[in-house]
Amino acid sequence: MNVLGIETSCDETSAAVVKNGKTVLSNIVLSSLRDHQKFGGIIPEIASRRQIELINTVVKQSLSVAKCKLSSIDALAVTTHPGLIGSLLVGISFSRGLSHVLQKILVEVNHIKAHIYANFLDQPQPPRLPAIGLVVSGGHTALYYLKNHLDYKIIGQTQDDAAGEAFDKVALILGLGYPGGPAIDRIAKSGQNQKIKFPVAELKNSFNFSFSGIKTSVLYYTRQCPPKDLNKAKVAYSFQKSVVDILIKKSLAACQSYKVKTLLIGGGVAANSELRAELLKQAAAQGITVYFPALPLCLDNAAMIAGYAYQLIKKK
Ligand code: KG4
Ligand code: ZN
Repeated sequence: MNVLGIETSCDETSAAVVKNGKTVLSNIVLSSLRDHQKFGGIIPEIASRRQIELINTVVKQSLSVAKCKLSSIDALAVTTHPGLIGSLLVGISFSRGLSHVLQKILVEVNHIKAHIYANFLDQPQPPRLPAIGLVVSGGHTALYYLKNHLDYKIIGQTQDDAAGEAFDKVALILGLGYPGGPAIDRIAKSGQNQKIKFPVAELKNSFNFSFSGIKTSVLYYTRQCPPKDLNKAKVAYSFQKSVVDILIKKSLAACQSYKVKTLLIGGGVAANSELRAELLKQAAAQGITVYFPALPLCLDNAAMIAGYAYQLIKKK
């Protein structure tokens, strides 16, 4: 079964064709990120206008790369929530029109669940369920217990900023531009072993997170530090280490508490090199198998939408 997925929840315009919920035949992602950079964050009005211009071309390209005609598409899938309403509307309106013309079903997909499902794409050996899922993106940080593909229970979430949002804000404080995650990841490599203490709220006895405090400590630190003494790499590394440590600690504790041996990570922050390396090491020591999607599948993309839709169709 070939599913054509469409994803327009934030700044990206993406379309993908995925076979049987597993094999990615194409995954085209165009981002309007450069148009937002001078503002230091996403401007919803700019994002949706760009999506209106791009959607047709992106869908055509995804079919062409997949070597798939519209007549060989069995179902359509689209992100319906969460996201920026103007952006979501572009994908929803487009896919509703297309599904009407093609007389094929349209599956509505939750973006967050799809981020976790990205771990099942292009995998020779799919992860075993039940599992704990950690979604860490620019808009969300949450832990889920997944009994199966359709039964997700939220067991903890951020009480304020998302982890990705904290990366973006700290990068702005350090003058590293937007989006901040990749910039902090890069610069932190030369700041290792020079740790400053940036405490992160523990929120003990829960699987909840809080990242607004650490962002403020970085702000105060940089304000107090004379500009000539500010070592950005050292600040970036220390901030990243504290965030990564708490994400790992709570994810592994959730695996222990729910007695599961599979941990699935998804969302843009899953691209973080320190998180990937450290979590692989610590999970292995506890006999837990941890999965990260391939880098392009960590960020927002339509392949995860088309893939997850297949599971929703199978249920019907
Ligand atoms: O999942 P995503 O593409 O969009 C949302 O649904 O939010 O995630 C984007 C977020 C941004 O906050 C970005 O700074 C962060 O993911 N990010 C990273 C890295 N690459 C992207 N954070 C840390 N390290 C990275 N390498
Ligand atoms: Zn996302």
